Amino acid sequence: MRSFLLPFVLLSLGLAASSDPILSRWIVHERRSHIPSGWSLARRHDASAVVPLRFALAQSNVENIEEYLYDVSHPSSPNYGKHWSAAKVASTFAPSRDSVDAVRNWLIESGIESHRITLSASGGWLELETTVREAEDLLHTSYNVYGHETGVKHVACESYHLPEHLVPHVDFVTPTVHFDAKLSKRFDGGQPLKSVGQPSSGNGPKMVAQALDMTTLGQLATCDKYITPLCLRALYNFWYTPESKENTYGVVEYTPQSYLQSDLNMFAKQFGPDLVGVTPKTYDIDGGMYAGSSKNITFDNNGESDLDLQYAMNLVTAAQPVTLYQVGDLVEGASFNNFLDAIDGSYCKFMSGDDPSQDGIYPDPMTGGYKGPEACGTVKPTNVISTSYGYDEADLTPFYAARQCDEYAKLGMMGITIVYSSGDNGVAGNSGVCLNPDGTQSANGKIFNPAFPSTCPYVTSVGATQVVSGKTVVDPESACEKVIRSGGGFSNYFALPEYQKEAVTSYLKNYPPSYPSNIWNSTGRSRAYPDLSANGANYVVAVDGNFSLVYGTSAAAPVVGAMLAMVNDARLAKGKKTLGFINPLIYSADFAGGFHDITNGTNAGCGTPGFNTSRGWDPVTGLGTPNFPVLLELWKNMD
Ligand SMILES: *[C@@H]1O[C@H](CO)[C@@H](O)[C@H](O)[C@H]1NC(C)=O
Ligand SMILES: *[C@@H]1O[C@H](CO)[C@@H](O)[C@H](O)[C@H]1NC(C)=O
Ligand SMILES: *[C@@H]1O[C@H](CO)[C@@H](O)[C@H](O)[C@H]1NC(C)=O
Ligand SMILES: *[C@@H]1O[C@H](CO)[C@@H](O)[C@H](O)[C@H]1NC(C)=O
Ligand SMILES: *[C@@H]1O[C@H](CO)[C@@H](O)[C@H](O)[C@H]1NC(C)=O
Repeated sequence: MRSFLLPFVLLSLGLAASSDPILSRWIVHERRSHIPSGWSLARRHDASAVVPLRFALAQSNVENIEEYLYDVSHPSSPNYGKHWSAAKVASTFAPSRDSVDAVRNWLIESGIESHRITLSASGGWLELETTVREAEDLLHTSYNVYGHETGVKHVACESYHLPEHLVPHVDFVTPTVHFDAKLSKRFDGGQPLKSVGQPSSGNGPKMVAQALDMTTLGQLATCDKYITPLCLRALYNFWYTPESKENTYGVVEYTPQSYLQSDLNMFAKQFGPDLVGVTPKTYDIDGGMYAGSSKNITFDNNGESDLDLQYAMNLVTAAQPVTLYQVGDLVEGASFNNFLDAIDGSYCKFMSGDDPSQDGIYPDPMTGGYKGPEACGTVKPTNVISTSYGYDEADLTPFYAARQCDEYAKLGMMGITIVYSSGDNGVAGNSGVCLNPDGTQSANGKIFNPAFPSTCPYVTSVGATQVVSGKTVVDPESACEKVIRSGGGFSNYFALPEYQKEAVTSYLKNYPPSYPSNIWNSTGRSRAYPDLSANGANYVVAVDGNFSLVYGTSAAAPVVGAMLAMVNDARLAKGKKTLGFINPLIYSADFAGGFHDITNGTNAGCGTPGFNTSRGWDPVTGLGTPNFPVLLELWKNMD
């Protein structure tokens, strides 16, 4: 997992050897390819200035994480379904004593007095204060001061080195190449800075019509214009009454997005009267604001949560409570890591080191922010967790993305299914931005811009389809090309997982994309997404007191989540285990009949028509849309 951070190996820094007690080779541990936009180099840092140096110790056994995950989720494994306890996960991945000792001994041999070195309470970090000169000697680097256009200053370096024998023990060192200066969201003339604590930026559902006349709706004959729960049930043959009392299904919402109970009631009255007055089972995480407590009633603030909850709750019926994880306060917001910290104390403790440029920091230091403690292992994860928010891979460093991705693997090992929407801009990133050759993103970039966490091989990524205009629910759907385009493509960060190899290789061989290899990752060796899809166009949603038409993979994710939740119900009712990580199964030959293949449409973006759909898996709609009764039968019969 760390390998992509080590692109350059310096064979020797000969001169350093005499002053250096460790005769180990020096290796570039991390290097930055560009300075993030808005920043510029101000000057070299003062040699005598003090920096708080922190070494993030590597997790044990993380190199085996994929093997562990497949062992409990691959259909041919004898351990299929034998999920791990949270305690076993925590002890397996906790940093080892060896790592602590290796780093501490090297620091002491390098001339740091042992009393200056402390191990963090979590056991995950070694910390010490050094002068810039000492840090530069330790890490073979030079520190600069950078300035942001808003006036904020930040200390960082271009790259840094570690002796070779420490490489397996250290994930990363701060402060170094990371631009983790705390930027308030009030900069840029009041415009929130993209991706500061806001995985949702530019990725919310889109609204078109407002104030629909309900007298014409609710009929199967109009599913090409208005999607209602009935249309979805008919499309996917999704008729199911839950039996189990112990099942759980959760959706995650990031403040300021929040639902209005009046909207849930309005929707329920129309489409599922037994849900009138029913509230989701809400967990407040890091000051999460819910139920319209923001008093700021706009589609941007309520559209996503209203959509997710109305469809999730209706599709699993009133017999299955839906859990809402409401994450982040109104001031700072929150990121996926804040949520992961809340549901997994081991992630929070051992991996602590949330990046303040990406993750909310709690208690919130900002005026009016949530002053309570950070949620850390305090919230129980549901069996299926659907999230309709996402980043572009390029918003994050490969290390940050890989670390979070590993956490999804751990949740899969514990029997939890993680579902993410694949993005609404086809081969482009959030808000339609694409990559430039230097790795930056812009509206006029030409290079395809993959979505994270969809490119993490340990989540299930959901794209979007539509009922073709003039067609009905019994006709094949197409890739969604109305208002939004199904996010899909090939990762630049993550390798092609084993479970997907055959599907992706066959697509690239039979339908080789006609694009030059410098605008997409054409290596055939990278994780491709989405994994499957569901309808994402023309959803009738009650938002802020009106029925509106809403579009997005945001809609498709909770629908797929609801179907998986009902499969879990059937399994739990038979005394079986939850699904956990489903990808190795859904790509297997046994599950070939479980999906309606989508073969029409593309996912335009970056000035191109995007990729083509095809027979079998494609980077637009994945394996296709679920055929619920077939999937249910297949999964009911698995051990
Ligand atoms: C209301 O929400 C919008 C969108 O999130 C935000 O731009 C605006 O500043 C908010 N207004 C107030 C008064 O909080
Ligand atoms: C393509 O993906 C592979 C595997 O993830 C990666 O090693 C490679 O760097 C990627 N290529 C580009 C141009 O990003
Ligand atoms: C998609 O299919 C069309 C028609 O077969 C073809 O002309 C086009 O080149 C294909 N697109 C890609 C990206 O390969
Ligand atoms: C409902 O939509 C109508 C027409 O667009 C608008 O005038 C009204 O303000 C909306 N109601 C709410 C509560 O937003
Ligand atoms: C394919 O999709 C296009 C655009 O959505 C639509 O016009 C066309 O009718 C579809 N073809 C089929 C066979 O569904």
